[in-house]
Amino acid sequence: MTLELLNKTTNELQADILIEFLNAETLETHAKKEALEIQGFSASQDSVCALFESGLIVCGIEDYGDESLRSAATQVINALRKTNFKTAKLSQYYLKNVSALVEGFILGSYRFDAYKSKTDNMNLETLTFAASNFNDDALEFAQLEEAFTSALIISTATNFTRTLVNTTPEDMTPLGLADVAMSIATENALTCEVLDEKELENEGMNAILSVGRASRHESCLIQLSYIPENPIKTISLIGKGLTYDSGGLSLKPAASMVGMKMDKAGACAVLGILKAVSELKLPIEVHGFIGAAENMVDGSAYKPDDVLVAKNGTTIEVRNTDAEGRLVLADTLCYAQEKVQADYLFDYATLTGACMVALGAYTTGMMGHSNHLKHTFLKGSAKSGEMVGSLPFNRHLKKMIKSEVADISNIGNKPYGGAITAALFLDNFITEDMKQKWLHFDIAGPAYTDSPWDCNPFGGTGAGVRMSVKFIQSLSAVK
Ligand code: BES
Ligand code: ZN
Ligand code: ZN
Repeated sequence: MTLELLNKTTNELQADILIEFLNAETLETHAKKEALEIQGFSASQDSVCALFESGLIVCGIEDYGDESLRSAATQVINALRKTNFKTAKLSQYYLKNVSALVEGFILGSYRFDAYKSKTDNMNLETLTFAASNFNDDALEFAQLEEAFTSALIISTATNFTRTLVNTTPEDMTPLGLADVAMSIATENALTCEVLDEKELENEGMNAILSVGRASRHESCLIQLSYIPENPIKTISLIGKGLTYDSGGLSLKPAASMVGMKMDKAGACAVLGILKAVSELKLPIEVHGFIGAAENMVDGSAYKPDDVLVAKNGTTIEVRNTDAEGRLVLADTLCYAQEKVQADYLFDYATLTGACMVALGAYTTGMMGHSNHLKHTFLKGSAKSGEMVGSLPFNRHLKKMIKSEVADISNIGNKPYGGAITAALFLDNFITEDMKQKWLHFDIAGPAYTDSPWDCNPFGGTGAGVRMSVKFIQSLSAVK
């Protein structure tokens, strides 16, 4: 399906069907009120009603805000999926929320069917946004077009991330992720470097190597960089790329293992962000660093009681091999800080089940030392459609990862505050000068879903992409 924005009125546009969003108030004065009400339509949020003979499909909304319109657009596009209409149009009336609408239509219509013998393709080919009232004011139309194009790029990158997350562990191995990074680099003129196991060894990255040792797939570290001319700021993004997390010898129970192909979602988000930022040609230098490995079991597996020496020399007592993400991130964070002197250092990881307990499955957990930076991020990403909640550090939780045998333990000594103790573990690999520039995003909850919500169908959601690109865009605006 193609989305287009034209400087025309809905009347001037030829299309099989017109889409409208109505709340209780706008339903009252609508020309088709009676016909809609006869079908039981009362404009409740997300309820769809079609008057196909009149060429009209409507969806109820609570209000004309982003949240309501994004969700309603998803419902409409899914209703149209079941029809044979080829073209649809949308009036200019809703265009102050143009980004939310693009997201609703593009993200809401996404399906992952790479492994299905029969696919349920959309018949709808073109959806046109009519933007005629911007006619008088050339500048406003230009701004609208910019917002439209930007939302399209971000939504497409989010769907790209979803597909990577949804790909099976056999089809998306650590080196498979490296191939994807290489092809993004070729398509968008970025640079890409991949460190194989031999090179990881030379770099002293024993933590990554230990996690990946029992896998038939080689571990690697991927660096993908977008370097524009005269960048305003530099930002490093670190992604957890566990192409499968069986738990290792601290094996996950059968039911918890299903879906653990999503443990690479942090890495996939970083790839999606780089794709979007480079397509948007933002004046920010962005470096992605991905620690990629598979956490498996065999005779060579790393084990509870092992002591690992990370890249920065910190010794880590392994007490649970299922707390592997923080080990991979430890080495990757050290490497990223050695390679690039950045203004911001963000990491993305499906790190803890505890984060879902704390915030629910829809919200990303944000952690870091700087309240100012957390605030700046929340402000910059506010209209992204993603939800982010801050979890606070404290000195008592920090003591929970002390170890009797090594510098630190890879799990806390009590079962509470697990999202924060994981972040405090990572803090050991952040250099003094970067402490105030670092944010950790635990996306374990929102990265994957087994029941659709908002504009997310089953599977990978692309969590992290929209909020981060919006934040990077907000940096570009401050000149
Ligand atoms: N990848 C998991 C975290 C996770 C759990 C992501 C559920 C998505 C859904 C991570 O590697 C893990 O297993 N964490 C453990 C840590 C524990 C052993 C301290 C967890 O959360 O149970
Ligand atoms: Zn794990
Ligand atoms: Zn994991």
